[in-house]
Amino acid sequence: MRAVVITEPGPADVLQIAERAAPQLKAGELLIKVHAAGINRPDVLQRLGKYAPPAGASDLPGLEVAGEIVDGDLAGTPFKLGDLVCALVQGGGYAEYCAAPVGQCLPLPKGLTALEGASLPENFFTVWSNVFDRCALADGETLLVQGGTSGIGVAAIQLAAALGHRVFATAGSDDKARACEALGAERGINYRTEDFAAVVKQLTGGRGVDVILDMVGGDYLPREIDCLADDGRIGVIAVQGGIKATLDVGQLLRRRLTVTGSTLRPRSVAFKAAIAAHLQATVWPLIEAGKIKPVIYKTFPLDQANQAHALMESSTHVGKIMLQVA
Ligand SMILES: NC(=O)c1ccc[n+]([C@@H]2O[C@H](COP(=O)([O-])OP(=O)(O)OC[C@H]3O[C@@H](n4cnc5c(N)ncnc54)[C@H](OP(=O)(O)O)[C@@H]3O)[C@@H](O)[C@H]2O)c1
Repeated sequence: MRAVVITEPGPADVLQIAERAAPQLKAGELLIKVHAAGINRPDVLQRLGKYAPPAGASDLPGLEVAGEIVDGDLAGTPFKLGDLVCALVQGGGYAEYCAAPVGQCLPLPKGLTALEGASLPENFFTVWSNVFDRCALADGETLLVQGGTSGIGVAAIQLAAALGHRVFATAGSDDKARACEALGAERGINYRTEDFAAVVKQLTGGRGVDVILDMVGGDYLPREIDCLADDGRIGVIAVQGGIKATLDVGQLLRRRLTVTGSTLRPRSVAFKAAIAAHLQATVWPLIEAGKIKPVIYKTFPLDQANQAHALMESSTHVGKIMLQVA
């Protein structure tokens, strides 16, 4: 099969097309003929040599695909050969064939193309796991999304807004802040020209938000604590602003705050399958009803994965950058 390999750690052009054997299926896996694959920031980190695949995972980049089931033991599964699915994988998505644990496969939501379906898994699994499981965003609670126009941010804004939450989101320009509002945020905040903590406190009458989805870390954490409501929770999913933070721990005690964090990729198949069940029950109906819409910014053919990465690193996109494979 044709696949994109990382020839060595480095800039986008280290991504090259190569011939590889199709994946050998392990127990519980399905073989997917890939129609489309999503690009995610963790793929960029992997290419740079800063995010190694977990033990046993494919060394090829790519954490999400959609396509047709062409092989695997389907007994006792809800699937049959030829079904179109989208899947979360630990690697190997930038290829013509990809192996996926059956528990991490979901039917393509009705009405979506494979390209649109491939844009969903990494972002919605991550958002569900962090915003709704770890940070337990409850009915009536408010959410601040850092990086609102990222793939993750778009999913978080749309899902929380569709479920009736007040959502605020930060982004790096006025245009992107308005894009967050068009996606369902009550207020997009340009983090380069506005103090997000002050804006959030003002918009919540001084109370602060209940949950913050943070992909920045570093010096954002003390500012997030400043605009977090009592009993509030911060879920850190990335450290683009640095791994060190100075916190007023007294505030954690006095106001019963929680700072947590997680990475999805190394978690078990059982953990991810449990999230898949929640997504199918709660999120897929919202997608099928048109209340959540995939936001695809640009699509490249497989052999232009280098250009797709360069675009992601320019951070000019809103939503998803995709690879059309077949
Ligand atoms: N822990 C996990 O399980 C997990 C899983 C998937 C992804 N992630 C992480 O989640 C993040 C988003 O992933 P993605 O694939 O959606 O990437 P992406 O589309 O490239 O988004 C990166 C985002 O970070 C924002 N950002 C950078 N510096 C910021 C700052 N100082 N304040 C606010 N926002 C800032 C950018 O905003 P502007 O462009 O507007 O500046 C951009 O929206 C990445 O850091 C990725 O590594 C974590």
